[in-house]
Amino acid sequence: MDVLPKPKRKRPKSLPPVEIREMELKDVAAVYDLGQKLFTAEKWPTLYRSWDDHELAQLFSSDVETCLVAEADGEVVGFALGRVTEKPRSAWRYGLLLWLGVSRRFKRSGIATRLLRQLTGLFIERDARIMLVDTAAKNHAALAFFRRNGFGQEIRHVYLSQNLENDPRYIERKDDLDDTLD
Ligand SMILES: CC(C)(COP(=O)(O)OP(=O)(O)OC[C@H]1O[C@@H](n2cnc3c(N)ncnc32)[C@H](O)[C@@H]1OP(=O)(O)O)[C@@H](O)C(=O)NCCC(=O)NCCS
Repeated sequence: MDVLPKPKRKRPKSLPPVEIREMELKDVAAVYDLGQKLFTAEKWPTLYRSWDDHELAQLFSSDVETCLVAEADGEVVGFALGRVTEKPRSAWRYGLLLWLGVSRRFKRSGIATRLLRQLTGLFIERDARIMLVDTAAKNHAALAFFRRNGFGQEIRHVYLSQNLENDPRYIERKDDLDDTLD
């Protein structure tokens, strides 16, 4: 008799009900803590934006209508933070999904799908015609998730960097600063 391989997928057996709702001020700390666990710099380094309290506070104050949380038993177990934006010289409005995360215990139970659906509705109500997301090329879970949810037309983007510490202007400035501290 064939022995079937164990399915890779883990679906938790009993999870409490999860509510998706608009993010509130009282959620900011919990969202930040969850993001700290999910977006560690070593795991998903992005050079142009990072998960920090300042970015979260800014997003919350300017775009709270497109920031959602998933709550279970009074705890934040997921979030989707976005913003609607216009590009210069373009009549189109874009819905940007900036940060999406689900706590480990609740993964693969459809929470990100629910968050995404609700956020998409909010974007459409605000006249967005295109939705944009980005993630690290090696973030296979996120890529699988986005592809499963209808995202495509993938464009690879390469980040380059240069260490400025060897630039004479950097060295000069550092020396000047050291002198003023002495
Ligand atoms: C990516 C992430 C948000 C998905 O959340 P989730 O709630 O587990 O996603 P869902 O349960 O709604 O998954 C829906 C589908 O997406 C795909 N998917 C999700 N996670 C996957 C994984 N780890 N591997 C393969 N496919 C996956 C599957 O097709 C899944 O359907 P299935 O469970 O019926 O097979 C979650 O893994 C996460 O928080 N990751 C860390 C943060 C991150 O990378 N965010 C995205 C960039 S901002």
